[in-house]
Parts: sequence; structure tokens; C-alpha cells
Amino acid sequence: MTDTAAPPDTGPSPEQPGFEALAGAVDEALARVTALDDDARGPALALKDAVEAFHRDGLVTIVRTLKNDPAGRELLFGLVDDPHVRALFTLHGIIRADPATRALEALETVRPYLQSHGGDVELVRIEGGIGFVRLHGACSGCSMSAVTLTEMVAEALIEGVEEISAVEVLDDEPTAAFIPLEGLGRIDSGWVRGPFVAELTGDRPHRWEVDGECYILVNHGGRVAAFRNECVHQGRSLDGGMLEDGVLTCPWHGFTFDVGSGECLSAPGAQLEQIPLRIDDARVWVRAN
Ligand code: FES
Repeated sequence: MTDTAAPPDTGPSPEQPGFEALAGAVDEALARVTALDDDARGPALALKDAVEAFHRDGLVTIVRTLKNDPAGRELLFGLVDDPHVRALFTLHGIIRADPATRALEALETVRPYLQSHGGDVELVRIEGGIGFVRLHGACSGCSMSAVTLTEMVAEALIEGVEEISAVEVLDDEPTAAFIPLEGLGRIDSGWVRGPFVAELTGDRPHRWEVDGECYILVNHGGRVAAFRNECVHQGRSLDGGMLEDGVLTCPWHGFTFDVGSGECLSAPGAQLEQIPLRIDDARVWVRAN
């Protein structure tokens, strides 16, 4: 006998507003609270923070419980693919937004200043630890103000996005201009010379100790990245791990990582600590500490 029952409707019912409507209502209420005078706004925002902390605590318990069970972990990965669940986890800091979203947020912090000086910036892509941007108006060119605005963009991206350790400016010219990190005032020291890129071969990361700190260097198709030699799971060293198709597998319990970004593929939101790196004269340099 064939089951002809209709599948359950999991979408919002007429009585149950959808995610966008709920998010819109929250935004609207928050805008009203923000517009209150100081005496009323303080307690209202404190209530909001307390409710969020309460929800976050429960969500963290749910995520931890699911992560500790193989079937639960699979369920969790499926849930994180749902844009609504993802937005909820991101809101509560349980997972981080992807690097491109964080880069756009970082650029928003400098955009008003750029625009007030007749310039603007556009994120083109993030690849191999480099943020590629295109500059417009007063930001492009070689004038002092253009250089200052460009450095401001580079600082915002490097500071705001762990996965970005250098910024490359693309323009309408056929060549691209590279902003060396050492040109930025706040990071004018601390670079340490490492091995030649040509030495970074094989299917294991290259272990490198500098001043008591331990790093790994990985070379995936000519894209080199440096990370602290600590797995996000139990902090054990990763240098004995296997590299395959751009994925590093921890030798201890098998957590996997994208070698370009350091993003943990086994635990949503976890991330290896990426170390700023540049290539000079075919050698690797990292900014230790
Ligand atoms: S230390 Fe457990 S997976 Fe890396």
C-alpha cells in the first residue's frame, strides 16, 4: 500500500512569522530601544544582553552535546548549513562569519572616512591569505592621501580578518600593486626569515621554531601559509599531520583544516591561528609573536 500522506509542511504557517519577519521585528524593536533616552535605554539594553546571554548558554550546551556524539556532529553540520541556524549561531558567537563577510564588515569601519575624502574600496576576493581590493576615487593613485587611505584599508582588513595577512590592490592597470606589511607603521618589526619556498615540499607541514614559538608552514600549489603549531582540539602539535588536496589532518584525532585559511573543517567556527607571512627573494618571512 502506498503512503499518500502529504509531507509535513516545515515552512512558516500563517500564524507563525518566517525568519525574515522575526529578524525584521527584532531590528525594529532594537531601533526603538536605541532611540530611547539614556535612563530608559540602559535597562532595556541590559535586558536584551541578559536574554541573549541566557539563549547563548543554552545553545552552547546543545552544540557541545551534539559535537560529542558522531551522529550528533553530523546533524550539527547539517544544521549549520541552514542559513537561519547559521545566522543564529553567528549572532551568538558560536560560529564565526566566513572571512569574506568579516572582511566586508572590516571595510565598513573605514568606508565612511574614505567616502568623506572622495574615495571608496571594493573587496574583490580573499585567496591564500591575501585580501584583494580595488580602490576608487581619491584612494587610487600615488598621492600622499591615497597612500594613507590605502594603508587604512590594509590595516582594517589585516586587523579584522585573521585569515588576511597581506593586502593586494588591484586597479585598472594590468599590474597590481602590493602593499608590503612592513610598510605599515604598526608592524615595522618582528619579521623573521625562514626557509626557501622550494624547501616546503612533501605531504607534511614544515615545522619551524622561532624564539621558543613553534609554527607550521604549508605550501599548497605555491600558496604558502603559516600557522601556530597548535591544533584547535587539544592544542597538540600539527606538524606530524598529513597534507592532501589542500587539507591538513591532525595526527592525533583527525580534525581537518583548510590549509589556505586555517578554518577547521571538523568543528564549525574553530580556526588555526594564522601568522602574517610574506615571500621575499623566494624565502618565507613570518612576523613572529
Ligand atoms: S589534538 Fe585532537 S584532533 Fe588535533
